[in-house]
Amino acid sequence: MPSEPLYPSYLPTRPDGYMPTLDVPEFEADEPGRRADPLKPAIFKAGAKITNITPRVGAEITGVQLSQLSPAGLDEALKKYVDETITNIEAQRDQDFADVGFEKQREIVKYYGPLHKHPTMGYPAGTGPEFHVVYADETAGNLRTLLGPHTTYDLWHVDQTFTPNVPSTTFFWVLEIPESGGGDTAFTSLTAAYEALSPTFRQLLGGLSLHHTSASVGEVARVGMERALKEAVNTTHPLVIKHPVTGKPSLFVNPTIARKIEGLLPEESDNLLKFLHEHIKSLDFSCRVRWEKGTVVIWDQRTAAHSAVPDFADGERRHMVRMIPYGSKPQPAFPEQFNASKGKIDG
Ligand SMILES: [Fe+2]
Repeated sequence: MPSEPLYPSYLPTRPDGYMPTLDVPEFEADEPGRRADPLKPAIFKAGAKITNITPRVGAEITGVQLSQLSPAGLDEALKKYVDETITNIEAQRDQDFADVGFEKQREIVKYYGPLHKHPTMGYPAGTGPEFHVVYADETAGNLRTLLGPHTTYDLWHVDQTFTPNVPSTTFFWVLEIPESGGGDTAFTSLTAAYEALSPTFRQLLGGLSLHHTSASVGEVARVGMERALKEAVNTTHPLVIKHPVTGKPSLFVNPTIARKIEGLLPEESDNLLKFLHEHIKSLDFSCRVRWEKGTVVIWDQRTAAHSAVPDFADGERRHMVRMIPYGSKPQPAFPEQFNASKGKIDG
């Protein structure tokens, strides 16, 4: 007899079926981090306590309720970790966020930008595809079931980067943790990954751009190759981008969504990307976040890639929700170099 979920109203449904991936036209995005007071008075006054997960990536925060932050507090909420260090992922502990209701959750995340609508993932009944439920149990299976037999299930990526504007301050929260543990989420700093490279190699990368497509590994597994390619939404982004708030460069690679470097021959592109995809996984600048009841992870997709760690026992329930706001269109970190190189490709 299957057990009952803790949050039945958040079970994934898709009454309208799969829809084609939305191609969101370019728009001028608000970047709330630009307004933040560098001293972060609102979150510290509210009682924030911050501990680094590692010096380079990830922070744990206690003492603040996201649901009660003022607009100034929301401006400061993520900026703290992108301008003072190269850390850009925060695990907010002991949050009431999972229990504040759909409207409040939507309102808070929407503060950071218009919400992404997922074409295929289920959402709670009565809401819409801006809620993306990640659910595993004895009937639904888990990520291993979806992807079939593999030696490992690392799937490093940045979410939904195939439109001109890309995801920014993403919220991912837990409703139910697997009984025997596991199911962490891993993050890696694309800013630190860039900083680890030699000046000569950085010079080469600064001129390149990548082709991004919605026909990603995950979507192909969900809807099949034929449909994924037929409905694909595509764009290109610079391979090294400048963060819209801090101006710091990051290595904007995305192993499941961006698999071709513009202007290179296939072997050149494949081998260069193979190196970069291995490089970003380094333990030097990645971390794992362990989920606890009440944890909400917020991260900036322009500076971090992530991977699920589907190591929990078969049949156990793991229940999560993600919401993604769109931020700015990524700009090249070194425009002069980028434009000179692009000129050569465009002829
Ligand atoms: Fe993801």
